[in-house]
Amino acid sequence: MPISRRHFLTTTAGLAASALAAQETTSPNGRVQVATIGLGGMGTEDTHTSTHVPGVQLVAVADIYQGRLDHAKEVFGKDIFTTRDYREVLARKDIDAVIIATPDHWHSTISIDAMNAGKDVYCEKPMVQRVDDGKQVIAAHEKTGRIMQVGSQRVSSIVYQKAKELYRNGAIGELNMVEAWWDRNSAIGAWEYSIPLDATPETIDWDRFLGRAPKVPFEPVRLFRWRNYRDYGTGVAGDLFVHLFSGMHFVTGAIGPTRVYATGGLRFWKDGRDVPDVMLGLYDYPATGAHPAFNLALRVNFVDGAGESSGFRFVGSEGIMTIGEGVTLSKQPRESEPGYTIESFTDAMQKDFLEAYRKKYPPQPMNADSIRPRDEEKYVPPQGYSDHFDHHRNFIQAVRTRKPVVEDPTFGFRAAGPALLSNISYFEQRMCKWDPATMTLVG
Ligand SMILES: NC(=O)c1ccc[n+]([C@@H]2O[C@H](COP(=O)([O-])OP(=O)(O)OC[C@H]3O[C@@H](n4cnc5c(N)ncnc54)[C@H](O)[C@@H]3O)[C@@H](O)[C@H]2O)c1
Repeated sequence: MPISRRHFLTTTAGLAASALAAQETTSPNGRVQVATIGLGGMGTEDTHTSTHVPGVQLVAVADIYQGRLDHAKEVFGKDIFTTRDYREVLARKDIDAVIIATPDHWHSTISIDAMNAGKDVYCEKPMVQRVDDGKQVIAAHEKTGRIMQVGSQRVSSIVYQKAKELYRNGAIGELNMVEAWWDRNSAIGAWEYSIPLDATPETIDWDRFLGRAPKVPFEPVRLFRWRNYRDYGTGVAGDLFVHLFSGMHFVTGAIGPTRVYATGGLRFWKDGRDVPDVMLGLYDYPATGAHPAFNLALRVNFVDGAGESSGFRFVGSEGIMTIGEGVTLSKQPRESEPGYTIESFTDAMQKDFLEAYRKKYPPQPMNADSIRPRDEEKYVPPQGYSDHFDHHRNFIQAVRTRKPVVEDPTFGFRAAGPALLSNISYFEQRMCKWDPATMTLVG
C-alpha cells in the first residue's frame, strides 16, 4: 500500500483560467457594469480579475490621486469615467456594482453609501477599520437588500473547500487547536510602498484621503504607506490576521473567539510607523454545534522568513491538517511509553510495572516491519488556480441571481472583529472579551 498519495495535476495556468471562464454562463440579465473606488495595488488586481468574469465591464474609476485616474484610462480605455469624488460614481445609473479597494478607514463609509445608492458591493478586507463600524455595515446591508461580498478570497478557494470537507468528515477527529502564521522578510512585504514623484497637493485630494481621520498637513508617505498608520489602516492584525480568521472560520464553521489576547512590538521597520511589525495573538474558541472548544494562536512577523510564508496547522485528536500551497493530512499513532518517571518508584515497583507494561505492549523487533505506519495525503490545486477569480465570480453570480455570497457582511465582521480586538488588546495591554454571536465587545 502506498504510504503517500499526491494528486498530480498538470493543468497549465492558461488552461486553468480559460476552463474557469468557460464554466461561466451568460446571465439573462446581461452585462454587469462595475466601477472601482481606489485603483491602487489591490484595486487594480480586483478590477482585472472581476472583468475576467464573462459579461463584466468596467465603466468608472474613482481615486484621489490623479496619476491613478490617468493610468486607469491607459489600461482600461479612454472612455472610462474617472473622478476624485467617489460619490459621482455612486450617482451614476449605469453602474450595477462597485469594487472598494481604498485604505481601510474608508471601507465602511463607502460601502454604506454605495448600498444606499442601490449598488452591490465588493469591499476589500478588512470589512471595517473600527469595531464600532461593523454593525452599521450589517444594518445597511439588511436595510437595502443589496449584495455585499467582503474580499478575503480564501473563503472561495478550492483548497479551503477541500480542507473543510476533510475536517467535516472527521479526518483529524476532534479539533484541539489551530496555529496559523504569516511571515514576511521584504520591504514591500513590510509595507514600504513606492511613492510617485508627482505626489503634490495638486495631484492628490488630500482632504478626501483623510476623510474621518484627524486633519494633518499634506504628507504623501501617509497616503502611499497608509498601512503604517493607525489613522488609516488596521496594523498587521487587520491586514493579515483577518485572512487567517476568515480562512479558519470557513473551514471549521467557527464564528469567533470569546477571549482575545495579543502582544508583539515594533522590532525592525522603524520608519515612522505607529503599528507593530511582530504580532502574536491567542484566542479561545468556545464549543458550538460545529466544533468543540479549541485554542487558536496567530503570528505575523515582518522580520522573519525567507521571502514570505503563510500557513495553518489544524491539530486534532486523530491527526493534523496543514494548509499551505495545498492541504496535507497526516496521521501518526500515539506513542505509549512508560517514561522516565518510573525511575522514582521503588526497585520492586519498577520491576512489577515493567513486567505488566511489556505484557501489554510487547517489544517490537527493530526490522523493516517495525517502522511505524505513517499516513499522509496531499491535495494540491491545479497550477494557475486563482481563488481571487473564484471570489469575484461568486460575487458576480450573486449580483445576477440575488443569491447569497460566500462572505457577506456578518461573515466579514466575524473575521474583522477579532482582528481589530487584537489591536485593542495590544495597544491597551489587556485581554478583550467578545461575544461572537452578537459580535459585541463585552469586556
Ligand atoms: N484581498 C487581498 O488579498 C488584499 C491584498 C492587498 C490589499 N487588500 C486590501 O485592499 C485595500 C487597498 O490596499 P492596496 O494595497 O491596494 O492600497 P493602495 O494604497 O495601493 O491603494 C489604495 C488606493 O485608494 C486610493 N484612495 C485613498 N482614499 C480614497 C478615497 N477616499 N476615494 C477613492 N480612492 C481613495 C489611493 O489613492 C490608492 O490609489 C486595503 O483595504 C487592503 O487591505 C486586500
